[in-house]
Amino acid sequence: MARKPIIAGNWKMNMTPAEAKELIAALIPLVQDAAADVVICPPYLAIPTAAELVKGTNIALGAQNIHWAEKGAFTGEISAKMLKEVGVSYAIIGHSERRQYFGETDETVNMRAKAAIAAGITPIICVGESLEERETGKTEAIVSAQTEKALAGIEAKDVKILVIAYEPIWAIGTGKTATKEQANETIACIRNTVKKLYGEETAEAVRIQYGGSMNPKNAAELMAMPEIDGGLIGGASLKAEDFSKVAKY
Ligand code: PGA
Repeated sequence: MARKPIIAGNWKMNMTPAEAKELIAALIPLVQDAAADVVICPPYLAIPTAAELVKGTNIALGAQNIHWAEKGAFTGEISAKMLKEVGVSYAIIGHSERRQYFGETDETVNMRAKAAIAAGITPIICVGESLEERETGKTEAIVSAQTEKALAGIEAKDVKILVIAYEPIWAIGTGKTATKEQANETIACIRNTVKKLYGEETAEAVRIQYGGSMNPKNAAELMAMPEIDGGLIGGASLKAEDFSKVAKY
């Protein structure tokens, strides 16, 4: 049962709409023959521009977050319906930067994931351990618990089509990549958690990415690992050439 690889670019708080336009224009011809699903996640403000540009291409559009409510008094937030209307089909949920700097919890991650699914947007749910947690042998317990809480109350049919990103916090933006063995092993643990909760068929279907300093140099060896179904790319997604090389690992 082959899972289709998925390479997603997390632009974080980078790129004005004009800069996004330039980057996407350069990216389109470079990734048009990519075998993987290709997704870009620009900041909200650049999404409408990006949506126009990627129409008719093999690049799908993602957001970097989503609010759990349909609408209402939530100053500064963006709903799934708003994103869906402008052509967003994926949303990163629970990125470690959201958890670390913006008070995101396992509970809010779960609510946001459910809101995405309800709107027909595929969540890319991020989990990952800190350096201290890895060094004290807590990695598996941490990622299993995060996975279980993120998926609470989500049906198997929806779990099958969502995406999980394993992102060790110590590897994000640090240039320090997890070894391919570490990434593969932890992703296997996440898949096993899904298996315990939903059974084999769902666990075999769900796509699990690795993220954390993935770049043109290490993408091929990471992607060659049997459990790794894709990548969530930060820094290297900001240059068309680099991102296309990862997408075509
Ligand atoms: P990085 O970021 O590739 O810059 O390490 C990955 C991420 O945070 O998704």
